Amino acid sequence: MKKSELSPKISTFPMPVAVISVGTGEAANLITLAYVGKVCHDPPIIAISIRPNRHSYKLIENLGEFVINYPTIEQLRETDYIGTHSGRDVNKWNHLNLTKENASVVQVPMIKEFPWNMECKVIKRVEFGSHICYFGKVVATHSDPNYVQNETLNPEEFNFPAYIAGNYLQLKKGALARHGFTVE
Ligand SMILES: Cc1cc2nc3c(=O)[nH]c(=O)nc-3n(C[C@H](O)[C@H](O)[C@H](O)COP(=O)(O)O)c2cc1C
Repeated sequence: MKKSELSPKISTFPMPVAVISVGTGEAANLITLAYVGKVCHDPPIIAISIRPNRHSYKLIENLGEFVINYPTIEQLRETDYIGTHSGRDVNKWNHLNLTKENASVVQVPMIKEFPWNMECKVIKRVEFGSHICYFGKVVATHSDPNYVQNETLNPEEFNFPAYIAGNYLQLKKGALARHGFTVE
């Protein structure tokens, strides 16, 4: 097979689409991120990366906390708006009629209308170059019970978009197989 050469900067796939809340009270802001990924199970750590020119950058630097809010595919419009407008110019909560819900551990509000929220405390930050990477320890997770089965996310009800090469993708086709299906 002859393979094409691609840039080392090409993104992995699929990337999630998540809306992160940062800051507190009236200053609380929202930013859409694709650079979001679990990097350790115990303790549970998720890494997110933010460019320093974002309005959200100062807010996460000051508080050291964030909430990951995962949208459904029906909430793509809100998600794209949050990722294409700055909190410097508009209050995204008010503009999109999103409700601040108190988190159980962190001071940053969760998005009430988004069905899956993960509260995180920054335990480490690394300056790699274009983006600052924050490693957040997950201190609480909340989900709409409709998406949950046996205390974990139900793959048959999974309704969250992914992101690849500038496009939002739908993953809702159900599970292909269960992890370990080749084990006798
Ligand atoms: C799908 C999508 C993914 C994005 N991923 C990132 C990301 O991983 N890191 C980042 O710094 N900006 C990312 N952005 C851009 C920010 O969301 C965007 O610049 C936003 O307007 C910044 O808001 P703020 O200035 O209120 O913080 C993404 C935008 C979209 C639409």
